[in-house]
Amino acid sequence: MTKDFKRILVTGALGQIGSELTAELRDRYGRDNVIASDIKTVKDSTVMEGGPWTLLDVTDADAVEKTVIELDIDAVFHMAAILSATGEQNPQLCWKVNMDGTINVLEAARKHEISRVIIPSSIAAFGPETPRKDTPQETVLRPKTMYGVTKVSGELVCDYYVRKYGLDVRGLRYPGIISSETLPGGGTTDYAVDIYYKAVQEGRYTCFVREDTMLPMMYMPDCIKATLDLAEADFGSLVHHSDFNVGALSVTAGDIAGSIRKHIPGFSVDYEPDYRQAIADTWPMSVDDSAAREEWGWKPEWDLDSMTADMLEKLRDKFL
Ligand code: NAD
Ligand code: SER
Repeated sequence: MTKDFKRILVTGALGQIGSELTAELRDRYGRDNVIASDIKTVKDSTVMEGGPWTLLDVTDADAVEKTVIELDIDAVFHMAAILSATGEQNPQLCWKVNMDGTINVLEAARKHEISRVIIPSSIAAFGPETPRKDTPQETVLRPKTMYGVTKVSGELVCDYYVRKYGLDVRGLRYPGIISSETLPGGGTTDYAVDIYYKAVQEGRYTCFVREDTMLPMMYMPDCIKATLDLAEADFGSLVHHSDFNVGALSVTAGDIAGSIRKHIPGFSVDYEPDYRQAIADTWPMSVDDSAAREEWGWKPEWDLDSMTADMLEKLRDKFL
């Protein structure tokens, strides 16, 4: 493990992953060394109040460069993005934020010799022609959503900067992330979070994908662990850079409901698939993450039932 960066910028820090990543980075690297940023503000935000904060629109190249210079940044965790469902509602915005944002971060990093850049990809990089079970690391990448198009393009341009400029860029293809701190920001896998909230708040849920829809998922503590394990791995041990498959759980919507029913026996779920079903049907059911396991020691710690118990406990503390 290396910890050779000192001043960290997190973009999209008020989002589902950015908010918890910022907290962990501040614990590890020191409160004042982790600058949180986002295009929006949130009232009573622990991210904004728990350490340095700045407004930053990642589509503004000058603002990204100025932030990196003025705050003396030497590592960027680039979490700002438009996710799959919102991306299908506004594909042009999705392209602009995801691609301009990525290239602006890469360019600022190249010009100012930033020592490490973390840029996530997603299971959305895959498409209907990809094998859906144990989806290989190297396989067909022909996504059908604009979000997926930006994720494949992002992986390719990140790897280009590694090859062409020797920039240290790393990234993971996150599965659907489940968490209780910050609500997800408009993805296809949001049902896997919403179902826990509704179980605690209302005892019933209307799910926007079919009961048998199986997708790879991951609990937030494993997501943060994966991100930081990769970020802190020895560069020399990496063969891949921007596109690591990472697996944890492969569960159906019905499996999640069943796991919740072990704690809330009367919990009921209706299934009313909408446009997001068609997106989910093009994504993997499970992924082969042996490259991540071999190159930087990836190993998830949470299974479905341990995650469910923890989610319900945290949400009950929050709402009841
Ligand atoms: P999110 O939608 O919860 O948060 C994204 C944040 O980016 C938001 O706070 C938003 O305000 C901000 N943002 C949007 N446009 C911006 C702009 N122009 N400039 C600056 N900030 C802007 O997303 P997340 O779930 O935290 O995702 C973080 C990263 O992980 C993204 O790259 C996403 O594609 C990837 N990812 C997430 C998941 C998941 O399930 N959460 C799965 C796969 C990949
Ligand atoms: N959770 C994300 C989404 O559904 C996957 O990248 O968009």
